[in-house]
Amino acid sequence: LSISTFDMEKVCCLLLLAITGCLSAINLKYTDCNSNQALLHVDSVSLNPYPPQIPGDLRASGHLVLGRNISGHIELQVSIHKHAIFWIPVPCVSGFGSCTYDFCSMLNTAFNVNGQISCPPQMAKQNLPCTCPIQAGTYTLNPDVWVIPTLPSLLSWLSSGDYKVDAKLVNKDSGEIIACYNTQIAFAHKCSGFGCIFG
Ligand SMILES: *[C@@H]1O[C@H](CO)[C@@H](O)[C@H](O)[C@H]1NC(C)=O
Repeated sequence: LSISTFDMEKVCCLLLLAITGCLSAINLKYTDCNSNQALLHVDSVSLNPYPPQIPGDLRASGHLVLGRNISGHIELQVSIHKHAIFWIPVPCVSGFGSCTYDFCSMLNTAFNVNGQISCPPQMAKQNLPCTCPIQAGTYTLNPDVWVIPTLPSLLSWLSSGDYKVDAKLVNKDSGEIIACYNTQIAFAHKCSGFGCIFG
């Protein structure tokens, strides 16, 4: 009888752990994994609310030091894992997920409106560049509100939960690793009623 009581306590403990583990969002955490952190270093990031709500308004600010001009053949390598019971690798699907991007082409395409470069207003009004070339220097993003839209079903994997995002910026011509970050971030979905418990 005492053994079964012990087992029951153990099971309850595990259940409790699982439940609190599922509900608790991890803190935003980022580690600079570059051997030469002077090339690109993020001094601070602030996200409010945290975890960011999808969809929702996100107040973001940050400060980074860039020791290299960013232009030409720069590769952005992204590897994403989602926390379930294990860390599950997220694949690259239609250009979203654990993908490798041609960084400058991606920016120049993303912010090109009818053949004209058009940076997000939050960046434009602070004179921050959003396309290459990006000059070496110190960049501050003052607190501003970004609207996170409702995600298309393509991005349904990006539901609420905890993620590990490893990103690397590599100059393919020189082979130099400009930036390397290991990040942990949580997202929350706007929910209501039972959706908040089971969503
Ligand atoms: C970045 O480029 C500018 C000209 O575009 C040059 O004057 C400067 O020396 C370059 N800086 C670095 C760190 O390479």
